[in-house]
Amino acid sequence: MCGIVGYIGKENALKAVVEGLEKLEYRGYDSAGVAYKKGEDILICKEKGRVSDLKLCILDTDSSLAIGHTRWATHGEPNKRNAHPHCSMNGRFVIVHNGIIENYQKLKFEYLSEYSFISETDTEIIVNLIEHFSISLTTEEAIRKTMSLLEGSYACLILDQNDLEHIYCMKDKSPLLIGRGKSAVCFASDITGLIGYAEEYMPLEDKTFGVISKEGIYLQDIIGIAIENKFQKIAVQKEEIDKQTYDHFMLKEIYEQPMMVRNLIHHYFSKEEVNVSSKLIHHIRQSDKINFVACGSSMYASYFAKYYMEKLCGIPCEVFCASELVYSTPLISKRPFFIFFSQSGETADLIAVIKKIKKQRFPILTITNTIESSMVRLSDYYLNIYAGKEIAVASTKAYTAMIVTSAILARAVSKTKTNLKSNLKAVSLAMEKVLENKEVCKGIAKEIIDQKDAFYIGRGIDYWTSLEASLKLKEIAYIHTEAFSSGELKHGPIALITKNTPVLAIITQEGTNRITRSNLEETASRGAKTYVIASKGLSTPKDDVIIPNVAHYLSPLVSVLVVQLIAYYAAVLKHNDVDKPKNLAKSVTVE
Ligand code: M6R
Repeated sequence: MCGIVGYIGKENALKAVVEGLEKLEYRGYDSAGVAYKKGEDILICKEKGRVSDLKLCILDTDSSLAIGHTRWATHGEPNKRNAHPHCSMNGRFVIVHNGIIENYQKLKFEYLSEYSFISETDTEIIVNLIEHFSISLTTEEAIRKTMSLLEGSYACLILDQNDLEHIYCMKDKSPLLIGRGKSAVCFASDITGLIGYAEEYMPLEDKTFGVISKEGIYLQDIIGIAIENKFQKIAVQKEEIDKQTYDHFMLKEIYEQPMMVRNLIHHYFSKEEVNVSSKLIHHIRQSDKINFVACGSSMYASYFAKYYMEKLCGIPCEVFCASELVYSTPLISKRPFFIFFSQSGETADLIAVIKKIKKQRFPILTITNTIESSMVRLSDYYLNIYAGKEIAVASTKAYTAMIVTSAILARAVSKTKTNLKSNLKAVSLAMEKVLENKEVCKGIAKEIIDQKDAFYIGRGIDYWTSLEASLKLKEIAYIHTEAFSSGELKHGPIALITKNTPVLAIITQEGTNRITRSNLEETASRGAKTYVIASKGLSTPKDDVIIPNVAHYLSPLVSVLVVQLIAYYAAVLKHNDVDKPKNLAKSVTVE
């Protein structure tokens, strides 16, 4: 979702900001803009479309200070008028903003009746409030006064036409990092945007206000108490955000999965023992119910976590969709434990739930790919899924890494010893075999791309993989797809089957093999074009994709690669923007 970048330092600020925005493109956006110092003025350049479109209007411009933004439309359609930066009515202040101001209409009515507006955005209210208060207050005071009135979420960078030596920042709920390099101070919504210009970073706490110049960083909380600068080294390497020889990040990330499994073995096992904090294990063992909370693919991964915890540890579990949980209060057991799954660690729906749970003082573990994230800071415990930076909007390696990490966690909590380590090694080899077979997946993709609907079916474990398979096909190939538990077909969905509707069955479990095949047959009798993705031991010669056998409970780690590849090739064949699908964002920072 929206990305923010800022730079003040010795190098060309505009170049640094445009590069930073390009690194944040993966978050998803529909317009982009920059504001920069030119002589004694602030100039603004913004466009609907890609960051590359900006390059034309700012070619060869040098500047010592700049801010930039990629916008994912919330208030007002994606066009140049609504794109950031926004300027205050009398031109004194310029702002970029990530987040949503919930009370912007009220503030407009109460304070800004004399003001006229150009855009439909909530952001224009913020910048005009600052200008309004600056008539009688200093810039710092005017920004802090504005902060005290805003309800909702914001991460903002602000320039003042009367003081072109500083960038001001303010932050609440939306993420904002400040980076420090040898010759610069910079800002970005996530660590990727800082790479190349900063060696260290510091995530800003909620309700932080800051004034940054070439000389220093001065941070305060909302009432003006100084905040200590606590920087840490940036661990992400430049190569991690490079596509290398792959056509798309998604393909690179699909191919990184066998290595990801080996990395997780390396990080969490010493010999046959699992290294997870004994305090965490003890805490989970004490609980009478584990509540998993997540969204999208991460929620589908948590179904497997529930399965492992219940089967191996005998603790009852439930999976909650964060955006639902935040507005409903389920029955809470006596000793609950909450486990959140999030690749980005910045998903607003999840942060809202964490804050709610935290108030009730229940223990929280976040399982994530981003340990410098807001969710980790709010949690009692965290586990790293060590997937490495995931850039494509469609999650692949982070999804499988979450499943592996939850299997490892369940093994640590359980008092029973299993041969998980060797089973995982077998999974990484089986994944490699599936990748060698990618042409078959491409063939299936070719056959389904022109269809209006497509359905994935399976039971139990295979049904959960179907959910993920269907999400992948929707989000990047834009094919209407649903996943059904194969037993449910005859209770309604089978009415949707018409001639040649693709129905893809996932079969990796012995107990449900026969029945899923019968259900698939029922769709074929009604005209469906059927496909079977099956484990070798359960396969028949007619099956379309045969995947190597692995321990049955780890089979989703292998079967899912097939459906990832089908979705990938379907998107490529349709000439879609694979890594940045329309309307979607990598980091969903608004509720
Ligand atoms: O960063 P998170 O894991 O919290 O994100 C949750 C979902 O937005 C995410 O999994 C989304 O569904 C993916 N784009 C799916 O590929």
